[in-house]
Amino acid sequence: MALTSIRTSDGKIEIIDQLLLPHTIEWIQISTVEQAHDAIKTMRIRGAPAIASLAALSFAANLEAELNKSSDSPASLASPDALKSHVVPILDFLYTARPTAVNLGAATRRLKKVLEASTGEGKDAKIIARELVAEGHKIADEDVGRNKEMAQHGGEWLVEQIKASGESGKDLNVLTVCNTGSLATSGYGTALGLITYLHETGKLDKAYFTQTAPYHQGSRLTALELQTLQIPNVMICDTMVGSLFQNRKIHAIAVGADRVAKNGDTANKIGTYNAAVLAARHNIPFIVVAPISTVDLDVPSGSHIPIEHRAPLEACLVRGAIYPTEITDQGEKKQAVVMVTPEGLKPEGVYNPSFDVTPADLISAIVTEKGVATRGKGQLVFDLSGVV
Ligand code: MRU
Repeated sequence: MALTSIRTSDGKIEIIDQLLLPHTIEWIQISTVEQAHDAIKTMRIRGAPAIASLAALSFAANLEAELNKSSDSPASLASPDALKSHVVPILDFLYTARPTAVNLGAATRRLKKVLEASTGEGKDAKIIARELVAEGHKIADEDVGRNKEMAQHGGEWLVEQIKASGESGKDLNVLTVCNTGSLATSGYGTALGLITYLHETGKLDKAYFTQTAPYHQGSRLTALELQTLQIPNVMICDTMVGSLFQNRKIHAIAVGADRVAKNGDTANKIGTYNAAVLAARHNIPFIVVAPISTVDLDVPSGSHIPIEHRAPLEACLVRGAIYPTEITDQGEKKQAVVMVTPEGLKPEGVYNPSFDVTPADLISAIVTEKGVATRGKGQLVFDLSGVV
């Protein structure tokens, strides 16, 4: 059974606390937009599509609660203007949780558009609120289907490329960075979806993944997902990518994206750029797998993408289970957060960007649910206006 980041039943929203994975599966209830914002900011839920889904669901739940209020007409639903005054600050607040992933902004903008359009049509506030609730759920639900489409497009494209180079297109080894699987999305995943597709169609030998410090989304989350899916896998430290390319046959690198600029420059988890530079040096195809909604045509190139810098302290800490294993009274593995730097490191002594930008000229293909975009021969950038 694949893992999942969010579950909902009877109007209740719960998320897996990803900070406790892979050792403890603990579901946290998200009852307010403030709790959703906090869960996103503190990385209890992460991954560009998953954070947008949680924001949209918590927003929808807030409005459902307004609609269900026992008073006939709560102040928020007294008129379209009152509804707007209630809704816009919530969307603006959710948007501030994390800056780099375009999905969060795209979701909040999409909800604002529904609000504007329906207000313009002179609809009743309650009807508009119900439309917003439906749109919130739609945003959270539409992810899985398109992930499977992307995985197939990307997987088939890669096999073709490998065959064109004279190899069999089987027993492929693919490296990925961070976590882009069902924990980062509403299901199946983007880059990890492509790897899963290759496995399901009998084309994969092994999935390789970097640990992805400082949050270790690779060693904590991707490792767990690959284990759960029974996909043969090999973990490497972030510093080992060059050595891996020198000493083992790697057929491709597949990564997700937090934002793709109009020209194809791609922001993704820190360390992605390193892997891309080394892939170019070793002539290994470098594939970005991301839904169309991740392409931001308003951003002309990577230098315009806002890059989140996380607290310096976070780069000094490692979290995980005590080793050798100790079991708590509740039967759980005892966990700890340990400091791996000397005490008193000054904040200005730590550089901790959460993402980097891989320039388009290092990217072989960008895969969306619409298909595979490649650069024209000799072109350094993509023309993504046709893809979106
Ligand atoms: O900081 P994170 O864990 O949210 O970063 C996640 C990534 O960089 C993913 O590659 C990206 O969001 C795509 S997830 C399908």
